[in-house]
Amino acid sequence: MKILAIETSCDETSAAVVEDGRRILSNIVTSSLPLHKITGGIIPEIAARKQLEFIIPVVEKALELPKSNIKTRIQHPRELFDYIDLIAVTTGPGLIGSLLIGVETAKTLSLSVDKPLVGVNHIHAHLYANWLSDGDQPSFPAIGLVVSGGHTELFLLRSHENIKWLGGTRDDAAGEAFDKTARLLGLGYPGGPAIAAAAAKSQITNHKSQINKLPRPMINSNDLDFSFSGLKTAVLREVNQLKTNKQFDDISIAQLAYEIQESITDVLVKKTLQASQQYNVKSILLGGGVAANKRLTEKFNLEIRNFLPAGEAGKFEINLHIPPPALCTDNAAYIASFAFYHQKQIPWQELMADPQLPVEV
Ligand code: KG4
Ligand code: ZN
Repeated sequence: MKILAIETSCDETSAAVVEDGRRILSNIVTSSLPLHKITGGIIPEIAARKQLEFIIPVVEKALELPKSNIKTRIQHPRELFDYIDLIAVTTGPGLIGSLLIGVETAKTLSLSVDKPLVGVNHIHAHLYANWLSDGDQPSFPAIGLVVSGGHTELFLLRSHENIKWLGGTRDDAAGEAFDKTARLLGLGYPGGPAIAAAAAKSQITNHKSQINKLPRPMINSNDLDFSFSGLKTAVLREVNQLKTNKQFDDISIAQLAYEIQESITDVLVKKTLQASQQYNVKSILLGGGVAANKRLTEKFNLEIRNFLPAGEAGKFEINLHIPPPALCTDNAAYIASFAFYHQKQIPWQELMADPQLPVEV
């Protein structure tokens, strides 16, 4: 089965064709990120205006790519859809203006080329980037951690049909913590990659640190919730102190970036492993932009050995699945994969964008 998926929940405009939930035939992603770099954060109106420009060419390209080896010329645009079985689209959560572009496009296409339609929850779908692989497929039960710019959520997946929300952030998301603290350090937007790059420089200096260890918010709370807003306050205090002492230089910034990355990744790893042990799962699935963080992968690989018992053949009982970086950040391929495993069709007249679509199921 070949699914055309559309994703426009934030600043990306993406369309993909995926076969049987696993094989990516095309995955086109454009972004208005360069414009948001100038303002240091996403301006929703600018994102939506750009998506309106991008959406038709992006969908066209995604449909054309898998057809490029077919020699016959297309007489009518409708023929581009010949081989598509279903159209999927992100309905929420996200920015209303952005979501509407994708949803209205998908509805129009569904009506005009007569293909069934499926609406997809963007946050649940992030985890399905782990099925877009020829390698080992995730086995159930699994713990899923979605860490993006707006979300930090833990899920228990007993099967494709049985996904339960376990906990999430009470204030800022992990990505938001990276973005906000990067801004305090003057590192620009998006903050995650900027903090990771600055942190990497901290290890090649012997400069004696004046920086205090940052807190690990809620790391020992006996639940599966997160809180990252206090970290921002702690970083602000450090930055002010460094500025007062005239020590706010590249070396201190690198060390502070390192500490920030350590704090956020420590909490994410600990809570995810705690949930994995609690529910005795076979796999851990990561998704969302923050899952592209290399230190997070490194720490998971290390801690999974310390935290969890070895299996019979010396193999660890829990398999860790982390998508390649390009599939961690927003793209339509995982929307298609989710739709393949959840083919809940909806008439085009009933499909609605919902910026507040709940993730708690
Ligand atoms: O999933 P995503 O692309 O968009 C949302 O749905 O929000 O996630 C974007 C978030 C941003 O906060 C960005 O700073 C963070 O992911 N991010 C990273 C890295 N790459 C992107 N955070 C840490 N390390 C990275 N390498
Ligand atoms: Zn996302």
